[in-house]
Amino acid sequence: MKTPTPPAEPPKPGPQDPAAGSGLPQHGTWSGRFSEPMSERMRRFNASIGFDQRLAGVDIAGSRAHARMLAGAGILSKTDFDAIESGLSTISDEIARGEFAWKLEDEDVHYAIEKRLTELVGDAGKRLHTARSRNDQVATDVRLWLRAAIDALAAQLAALRRALLDLAERHAATIMPGFTHLQVAQPVTFGHYLMAYDAMFARDMERFADCRRRVNRLPLGSAALAGTSFPIDRDAVARELGFDGLAPNSIDAVSDRDFAIEFEAAAALVGVHLSRFAEELVLWSTPRFGFVTLSDRFCTGSSIMPQKKNPDVPELVRGKSARIIGALTTLLVLMKAQPLAYNKDNQEDKEPLFDTVDTLTDTLAIMTDLVATGLVANVERMRAAAREGHATATDLADYLVKKGLPFRDAHEAVARAVREAEARRCDLAELPLVDLRGYSPLIDADVLDVLTLEGSVQSRDHPGGTAPRQVRIAIAAARASLE
Ligand code: ARG
Repeated sequence: MKTPTPPAEPPKPGPQDPAAGSGLPQHGTWSGRFSEPMSERMRRFNASIGFDQRLAGVDIAGSRAHARMLAGAGILSKTDFDAIESGLSTISDEIARGEFAWKLEDEDVHYAIEKRLTELVGDAGKRLHTARSRNDQVATDVRLWLRAAIDALAAQLAALRRALLDLAERHAATIMPGFTHLQVAQPVTFGHYLMAYDAMFARDMERFADCRRRVNRLPLGSAALAGTSFPIDRDAVARELGFDGLAPNSIDAVSDRDFAIEFEAAAALVGVHLSRFAEELVLWSTPRFGFVTLSDRFCTGSSIMPQKKNPDVPELVRGKSARIIGALTTLLVLMKAQPLAYNKDNQEDKEPLFDTVDTLTDTLAIMTDLVATGLVANVERMRAAAREGHATATDLADYLVKKGLPFRDAHEAVARAVREAEARRCDLAELPLVDLRGYSPLIDADVLDVLTLEGSVQSRDHPGGTAPRQVRIAIAAARASLE
């Protein structure tokens, strides 16, 4: 709805109207059209002020830029602009000091600030909304707010990655079993394993950066949906607010929230990556695995079982991802089948978006702390586990292939040797050479280099491989990309 200029004469307040006596319109900014008072229930149902007040800072920044542009274009007098500027500064201070009165009857952050501005500076405050609607105003606010949130989250992701890289460097040559189907598969290094998560978080950062480009387009100037008849300068507003360009279509600009949905999708993937890592920490910290020990401050005890130390932080990290995935679903469903252009449905975009940013902010902070200071790798346990599942069977098969056996035959010979080792309850690498030779006469004493854990990881010496040398190269490249 295009907001009409407030009537010169406020309508007579209705009997149950909380604004009664204040001289303010009883229905917010748009009361001239209405004759019935608003019920308390309707007021609560309709209001977003309870949650959108956190947009106040960007709302004021947007209003400043809009007013400066109006003044520059001769739509607003210099006197009015100065009054608006000083009024907005006062409001900014009031909010910072916690003195601003957020009232349900003011409906949303936009109207609350405009109303206070008018109290402070009179008619100039009423002129601020010229050539603007709350529709392009709120779309601008959300984009400004989200842009800052993306920047902060990207910095947090970078901090998490630095902590991971430090840990990976310390364990570039630490042997552990790698798994497929959660069965011991092949030896890898712990550093290589951690670098797998670094690769995921690196892509997450790329997704944030990519999404930011589409977030950073200016809706203002679209007004309610059709644009405005005033001679506005949208580029000037975009420049002042640091937008990379203009939203190209006024109808689209006030209506679509795909930029927020994209962000939610990128955030959900961060959540999913964090939850996979968290799940590994939960498994690894059980006595069965014993690969890592988590510092007590990331764990809690049980109220009944005195021996318990529960990995609460990783479990919560795993759980928090559910909220973010839920928020993505909420925004997708919110948008689906909305007719153009703005609909009040879009007021529901904010709480999931805020919750995602808050959840991810806390989650990234605590995971960074945990990786940097709360996790000890039990190197011996990792190594012992790598010795248990015939983890070098593929190395033996590759060895036979290098001696001329076709891979399928090599696979078969090694599989039979593994069966023998299983029967003797030992690891493949522990079978005596004479017995190994029983499975293929191509096996010689040099096989011992191949069957060792170190020999196995060192042989995977190509970009992306687990050889400690390659892990160190990958760490250096990741560090450089974070510079
Ligand atoms: N509080 C509203 C929101 O969050 C602001 C826009 C209101 N626009 C309107 N036409 N009622 O979307």
